[in-house]
Amino acid sequence: MKTILSGIQPSGKITLGNYLGAIKNFVQLQNQADEDTNILVFIADLHAITVYQEPKHLRDSIKQLAAIYLACGLKREKTTLFIQSEVREHAEIGYLLQTMTYIGELERMTQYKDKMQKQTTGVSSALLTYPVLMAGDILLYNSDYVPVGEDQKQHLELSRNLAERFNSRYSDTFKVPEPLIQKVGARIMSLQDPTKKMSKSDPLEKASIFLLDEENVIRKKIASAVTDSDGLIKYDVQNKPGISNLMTIMSCISGLSLEGIEKVYNGLGYGVFKKDLADMLVEHLKPIQERYNEILNSKELDEILTEGAQKASYLASKTLSKMKRKMGIGRK
Ligand code: TYM
Repeated sequence: MKTILSGIQPSGKITLGNYLGAIKNFVQLQNQADEDTNILVFIADLHAITVYQEPKHLRDSIKQLAAIYLACGLKREKTTLFIQSEVREHAEIGYLLQTMTYIGELERMTQYKDKMQKQTTGVSSALLTYPVLMAGDILLYNSDYVPVGEDQKQHLELSRNLAERFNSRYSDTFKVPEPLIQKVGARIMSLQDPTKKMSKSDPLEKASIFLLDEENVIRKKIASAVTDSDGLIKYDVQNKPGISNLMTIMSCISGLSLEGIEKVYNGLGYGVFKKDLADMLVEHLKPIQERYNEILNSKELDEILTEGAQKASYLASKTLSKMKRKMGIGRK
């Protein structure tokens, strides 16, 4: 039995980066999986509260993310879909693993360092321990593979170290999880500053395309995406990060290779390319948005989340009992 697991924080509107770097891959893996593969996808609400979230807004975002997952193609018969906080074991394993994590390991995390630079006061201790909670999410289901975008690689490394540390300190318990990072699309950049990652928390609206953006908004954002002045459609991340990012997006959406795109647009300007890219995006996102609207307030959505939480809790509680027994805490 192989287990594939991943999650996304409901901390803002879901971006095209989240979709191309993560969700699209979850759906592909689900569709290729055989009977012997267990797939778990969750809404990482405990992660989201490492920075303050307005409660009503958070609750809405949780449901919206669940509907987005389904609208993008996750299926209840194949994927266990659940909300992290509805499976208590996540918080508990997070604490158990903290006892084996060194502060230095956490202080070295790039994402933590970046966030610390932006927010100097009122930083919660959970922002530091966040990667341990993430390791807990992964180890709780003894996951083999974790599909993520490039920015999560370092966190995955910690999960691997903690699995090995637990196995050597107590006895063989956990598989050492492997990240699944796509070759193209694992790091979609901001449309306004293509040296920065596209991010849910970017305050500049036009820096990101959101999965639920309306057609005219998508067109405007693509038209105003930063490129360069030489007008050549050529993939060169170092010297032409803007157009390279847009080419990456086109490649993920259309299935064309980067070289293929260079050939098709040889001699044509950015205007033509951007118009085609906007058309492709609109066409790709339209059915997702339609399904989203059907699913969001359906009874089925709630049923799926309840069923998912039950299944995940069953698996998680088995792992947690085993860990506690091996660590010598409690009575048996
Ligand atoms: P989060 O919510 O920041 O992002 C969710 C997923 O989207 C990917 N991603 C991107 N991929 C390509 N280009 C981008 N610009 C981009 N931005 C985000 C992320 O790499 C991620 O795969 N800590 C995680 C959530 C999490 C998790 C887990 C993931 C919690 N527990 C256990 C896997 C396993 C996070 O904050 O992702």
